[in-house]
Amino acid sequence: MGIALGIDIGTSGTRTLAIDETGRILASASAEYPCDHPHAGWSEQDPEHWWRATCETIRAVLHRGKIKPEDVSGIGLSGQMHGSVFLDQAGKVIRPALLWNDQRTVAECEEITRLAGGKDALVGMVANPAVTGFTAPKILWLRNHEPQNYQRLRQVLLPKDYVRYRLSGTFASEVSDASGTLLLDVKNRRWSHELIGKLGLDPSILPPCYESHEVSSQVSPIGAAECGLAVGTPIVGGAGDQPASAVGNGIVRGGVVSATLGTSGVVFAHSDTPEFGPAGVLQAGCHAVAGAWHTMGVVLSAGGAMQWLRDELGQVEVAEAGRRGVDPYELLTAEAAGVSAGCEGLIFLPYLTGERTPHFDPYARGGWIGLTVRHGRKHMIRSVMEGVTFAMRDSLELVRKAGVDVRQVRLSGGGARSQFWRHMQADIYGSPVATINAAEGPGFGVALLAHVGTGAFSTVPEACDATIREVEHINTDKSLQKDYDTAYGHYKAAYQALKPIFTEMAAD
Ligand code: XUL
Repeated sequence: MGIALGIDIGTSGTRTLAIDETGRILASASAEYPCDHPHAGWSEQDPEHWWRATCETIRAVLHRGKIKPEDVSGIGLSGQMHGSVFLDQAGKVIRPALLWNDQRTVAECEEITRLAGGKDALVGMVANPAVTGFTAPKILWLRNHEPQNYQRLRQVLLPKDYVRYRLSGTFASEVSDASGTLLLDVKNRRWSHELIGKLGLDPSILPPCYESHEVSSQVSPIGAAECGLAVGTPIVGGAGDQPASAVGNGIVRGGVVSATLGTSGVVFAHSDTPEFGPAGVLQAGCHAVAGAWHTMGVVLSAGGAMQWLRDELGQVEVAEAGRRGVDPYELLTAEAAGVSAGCEGLIFLPYLTGERTPHFDPYARGGWIGLTVRHGRKHMIRSVMEGVTFAMRDSLELVRKAGVDVRQVRLSGGGARSQFWRHMQADIYGSPVATINAAEGPGFGVALLAHVGTGAFSTVPEACDATIREVEHINTDKSLQKDYDTAYGHYKAAYQALKPIFTEMAAD
């Protein structure tokens, strides 16, 4: 029986896991790395950290699972989407990668829209408007701001595709992640030479683009020596972390959508056609399932806002958790549970790195609104969880408006580990929520893609049906609906009222 590896290059760390053909997880390992913010609104990482974390976690998984390298039948790669790794002629990284939540490219988004002939023309070519986090504006930023670096540019890779290059020596991407570059003709699942030409870019800087389950490359002798895998192990296309997570959650047919609370928060819906409701409102892309597409809403600071709360205001809980050997988030959530729904009028806007869906506002900022002397730490903690969940509801409402009949929301990511947050999601979304047996999201999804690409299953839905089942179902508690709806109304109004102030603050 073949063993597939799934490797997810996340923003806070890399996670690798091994599964057999029944979907049983044989071993997993994680390694963390930092994220740099050299200026407000900038987010960068050194791709070398991803590669080191990949090698470390592959070796740990082989060791923990007592897996012989030659028993690994295939590898699937997943990772944070939209990042830009700039390589020179020798394949060396030119500068730190700009990440998905980097907001420095407002002017380049305007430039792209103009060069494309307006927003409608742009959406017609690549199914999305110009968004600061996407890859194409980052390439133009390099051209506009670091011309010497741009002169040296020969190849642009997405984060997981850089890891593929280190594993195999091959430049390759696949359609689901490529959809987030703003350079893919999403409808026809190939690079948009039309837009690439209008932007004056050299098409040879982009790698060949595969379907997610297709074998793209093999582990090279150099890659094998560094990571401990066997030379020749096939690597399938893989997927951006959100489509990968959707596969890992079994979102491969209509009706069920997923809500993933990782650093970002994403509401994801499958589509059998490349028509996605009103153009440019939600993100659109190819799914990691051949012949299918997806639409999604993206909250930039979801689990990221909770992580910020833990790191900046949760020192007490972190110390106590260390003493008791538990996760600090458990203690934070237990405190939040001591406050009633709606936090007695306290609202938190989670826009710590600007916001994508629904505002597309790089200048949006976070904040607590409605503080009174009655409020304490526990209110502040709960309001962060509620604020993040309201932001997810914004995306869910847009998915509903786009015509998706949402019958169930499948939860995953760190936010799904807390029972309290799962219930809060059912109540705020106004929809039943469910969790599944494989809580591993993207890594699990791309390991399934590797099984499909190496012949263990013939299609992605078949692989999902064979390995994924629901383990918990939670209905909405109708008694809390009114309090949450009132708080959600204030939450929405607060952003609208503060938007001009955020824009002014950004100009200071
Ligand atoms: C998706 C997005 C984020 C990143 C980070 O469009 O920007 O979810 O993929 O994980």
